Amino acid sequence: MAPASLELRILLVGFGNVARRFARLLGEREAELRGREGLVYQIVGISTGHHGYTFSAWGVDVASALSAREAGQPLPSGTKSAAGNSVEFIRRACAECRDLIVVETTPLDVRSGQPAIDHIRTALEGGADVVTANKGPVAFAYRELQALADGRGRSFLFEGTVMDGIPIFNLVRETLPAVRINAVRGVVNSTTNHILTEMERGKTLDVALREMQQAGIAEADSSLDVEGWDAAAKIAALSNVFLDGQLTPHDVERQGITGITNDDVERAKDKDQRIRLVAEAERHGGGVVARVQPQTLGLDSPLARLVSMQNALILSTDLLGDIAITQLDGGLTQTAYALLSDLVRIARRRRR
Ligand SMILES: NC(=O)c1ccc[n+]([C@@H]2O[C@H](COP(=O)([O-])OP(=O)(O)OC[C@H]3O[C@@H](n4cnc5c(N)ncnc54)[C@H](OP(=O)(O)O)[C@@H]3O)[C@@H](O)[C@H]2O)c1
Repeated sequence: MAPASLELRILLVGFGNVARRFARLLGEREAELRGREGLVYQIVGISTGHHGYTFSAWGVDVASALSAREAGQPLPSGTKSAAGNSVEFIRRACAECRDLIVVETTPLDVRSGQPAIDHIRTALEGGADVVTANKGPVAFAYRELQALADGRGRSFLFEGTVMDGIPIFNLVRETLPAVRINAVRGVVNSTTNHILTEMERGKTLDVALREMQQAGIAEADSSLDVEGWDAAAKIAALSNVFLDGQLTPHDVERQGITGITNDDVERAKDKDQRIRLVAEAERHGGGVVARVQPQTLGLDSPLARLVSMQNALILSTDLLGDIAITQLDGGLTQTAYALLSDLVRIARRRRR
């Protein structure tokens, strides 16, 4: 028997590739959400950086918003906004609608994690639960935001920030009580793994990067991927959540793949090796040290076997030894699913 009906009101802050896929996925999974979880939902507002914002406590016309943005148009019947107004938009929405779920998917800003941190802080202070796919807030302000959420009895969930839809944070939180993680190591950036794989097949870095940009997978600013910033933000986030670290991406020793040539890749191949961009962090002297760098790995390494957009993370634990989690298929749908799974987690928590 389906549980009693629970209505969720969702505010989308950011309406790019991920948020639009999420909005469609909610529609595609409406029957499952209603049947298995008793959930019905309304998207009550959408905010963008440069294409306006729209709000209605009774729900906005999501189909028109999707068509408009996919045609490169501003949000229909939206109010024009300049980037930076979203904090006020969230504050007002929280005042107008109780118990909102704010879904934050603005671009990663690797200098400071802003304005996403302000978006999430404003939402939590306004009494909303928060879901994000933006690793900036976890990489720069995890402790503050988690403490704020805990203090207000709200959720701050970010499953989509690392390895798309594969449960990493929720897996540890829900299924590994009392296990201490001592180190994490992995390939966590799909764009660079795709580029390195395609270079093994003879393509140049630039051509392979363009493919990822066209697929909406590469970051809006592609230097974030190829110079290792995205991986640095992810390993900082993993350090902060799993290793009690207080790192930002700027504390991570970092080298990207821009210096890797097709000759380097060929030389490794001749020796049955592969170059992979590896992110790693470990507890060290009461703190955490973390680095991102291209490593030449033998084919016996589980990280060397990852091709194209595949990712993997190895958690070194005190009780279970090493646990490897591999993502064989990544992409926008998987990231959108991470947001959906966090949403369901919030709904289940609200029921409790
Ligand atoms: N793409 C992926 O596969 C993937 C996977 C995992 C995680 N992520 C993360 O998910 C987030 C979103 O990625 P995406 O690919 O959807 O990015 P995107 O396509 O560039 O979309 C970003 C959205 O944020 C809006 N925005 C920018 N500044 C804003 C502001 N101040 N207030 C409100 N909205 C603002 C943009 O609006 P305008 O267009 O009007 O500026 C746009 O709608 C990023 O943090 C990314 O790192 C992405």
